[in-house]
Amino acid sequence: MSVTVLEQANIFEIRTDKSSYVFGINEKGIIQHLYWGAHVEAADCGYLLKSRLHSSFDAEIDRETEEYGGWGGCNYAEPALKVSFADGVRDLKLRYEGYRVVGENEIVLRMVDSYYPLDIEVHYKAIPEYDLIERFVHVRNSQTESVRIEQVTAAVWTVQALPDYRMTHVTGRWAGEYQLRSTVLSEGKKVLESRRGFTGPHANPWFAIDNGKADETSGSVWFGALGWSGNWKIVAEKSTFGHVRIVGGVNDFDSAFVLAPGEVYATPVFVGGFTSGGFGQMSRNLHKYQRDYVLPTSELRKVLYNSWEATEFAVTVEGQKELAQQAARLGVERFVVDDGWFGERHSDRAGLGDWYVNAEKFPNGLEELIDYVKELGMEFGLWVEPESVNPNSDLFRAHPEWVYQFPTREGTQLRNQLLLNLGLPEVKQFVLHFMTTLLTKYDIRFIKWDMNRTVTEPGTVASGQDVGASMWIKHVDHLYDIWAELRGRFPHVEFETCAGGGARIDLGILRYADQAWISDNTDARDRISIQEGFSYAYSPSVMMCWVTESPHGFNGRSLPLSYRFHSAMMGGLGIGANISKWSTEEMEKAKRYVELYKEIRPVILNGDMYRLSSLRDSNVAAYQYNSKDRSESVVFTFLQSQHFGSEVRHLLLQGLVSHASYEVNIDEGEPFVRQGSTLMNLGVAVSLRGDYKSIMIRIKRLE
Ligand code: GLA
Repeated sequence: MSVTVLEQANIFEIRTDKSSYVFGINEKGIIQHLYWGAHVEAADCGYLLKSRLHSSFDAEIDRETEEYGGWGGCNYAEPALKVSFADGVRDLKLRYEGYRVVGENEIVLRMVDSYYPLDIEVHYKAIPEYDLIERFVHVRNSQTESVRIEQVTAAVWTVQALPDYRMTHVTGRWAGEYQLRSTVLSEGKKVLESRRGFTGPHANPWFAIDNGKADETSGSVWFGALGWSGNWKIVAEKSTFGHVRIVGGVNDFDSAFVLAPGEVYATPVFVGGFTSGGFGQMSRNLHKYQRDYVLPTSELRKVLYNSWEATEFAVTVEGQKELAQQAARLGVERFVVDDGWFGERHSDRAGLGDWYVNAEKFPNGLEELIDYVKELGMEFGLWVEPESVNPNSDLFRAHPEWVYQFPTREGTQLRNQLLLNLGLPEVKQFVLHFMTTLLTKYDIRFIKWDMNRTVTEPGTVASGQDVGASMWIKHVDHLYDIWAELRGRFPHVEFETCAGGGARIDLGILRYADQAWISDNTDARDRISIQEGFSYAYSPSVMMCWVTESPHGFNGRSLPLSYRFHSAMMGGLGIGANISKWSTEEMEKAKRYVELYKEIRPVILNGDMYRLSSLRDSNVAAYQYNSKDRSESVVFTFLQSQHFGSEVRHLLLQGLVSHASYEVNIDEGEPFVRQGSTLMNLGVAVSLRGDYKSIMIRIKRLE
């Protein structure tokens, strides 16, 4: 049981294996946050439940920290909820009404406005084994009139009593996603958000706070991740009284909506956690949580081949067959045809929206290729981009009113395409229908679902359909509905989330997606940084990585095949090169890497990941993966460039059993035996010389 209620003292504790989260009801009926961190005795926190007025300019609300508060009275902090009532009153006074405990791990607090019957349920669901709490809110309009919701967030997290607050987050852009940043929070706000209609490559809804001293292996870290794939906002606000509140949910920008009488709005889930084990433990807790509670399947990622970088739009049945034959020789398990197979899609200027198989490219239908792929022992996968349309398409010519647009404006084209208004019921039906036809007619086992542009001009000319600003929310709701429906109808099909690379990855879409394409940048060196940033919040079990050409088109950088494979073996392995041009020697080497990957795959995808060293502050990057029972471990080490002749370094491994003996294999070298304690404290000596060298170490426990 994670929830304890001290009725007399009006104090509540959510206790996970290694954390306490304590709040109480003060004499004004406000739910006040009291403590979040390593275990404490909840009853001892009672003295914190006091009104702490400072001056008439700084109301007590500035000093106290509300668990979930409305905009009203003298509350000037970023509000959790802001509404406008039908009579024009825009002041919310939420008062605690009661609680209920659901099952072992959930508590729901009920709040209601002091005058208007607007009911708020604040949900907390503990995940005790990973020291996490899922939070979300239900807003019920029990009035007879509508209420306008101007801002509604999923949770407010409070971190307090640190001398300094450092916030870590990711930023990026197309082909450069998941770049880590950290900043010291001074008084005021740091806002992370998306206003682009999807999660975005520019920021991602995940944050971590520490005192500036936590590292990979030690220190207290408070963190959270929001599950929403549309416009989102996370505001970290440091008050002048020294605490930090992190408020997050669907972005309120341009997003007010009307809640009709009797209607309930449910926010997305915002999960938060605490660890005293540094950023490494934070990531491992999030990874395990995703695997156990968020992701739809626990299947291991299949080794895939994707034809995009080899052919781009020049798809032909013969070309694809040739690639498939080569892919099968490498041991690939899933063959995926990317963009260019449908409609008049010969470039990015036409065809998007016309989801029929192009008869010139596939004169005998798609079946010919699918059968061929299956005969080679692989399953077949296909790329789609259902939310977009080229103006030069039959779909657009038939339904120009289906795209986002304002009546007096021309829609902005990005990559020569417009975006369908998925919020319209007929568009939702269209997408569901063509996807159902495709998945019924053909033996397709995998869908890569792309979205290659942001939302602009978010209006509609479809008559009687204007849902106003809430279209931002509707698009995502309908997207989730479609994925849920398709997963139900086609349980044997796996889905990948892609948006021009990694622009739609968050805990919302990961409830429906088995895997994620994290960047169009497949340069194996750049990928190390992108994959490292990604791993702070997201599990390697969803992270798809391809081996592609050298020199690479993005940077012109040449990298050895070993480096390219090692970098891509850190998650779900894929091959995206033009393998019909690979030499026999390259094919032989690649085949061995695929075999090796299949051996270590359970450790990589289901194990615990440790970031041992980073190219952010060293010329060596190293990542270790341990099997759950710590009997097996895999380490990838990458040298940027050797300097000053110092070639040997000791990598301090983590998470092994101290007293156990392990056999260590460094690449193809002679195996040797070391104790777990030695490997963790003295380390394992690796010798790296030159530029872009990489080494893989395998470690196995001896009985
Ligand atoms: C996006 C994806 C790529 C590829 C292309 C096809 O950029 O991220 O992987 O599928 O679209 O147009």
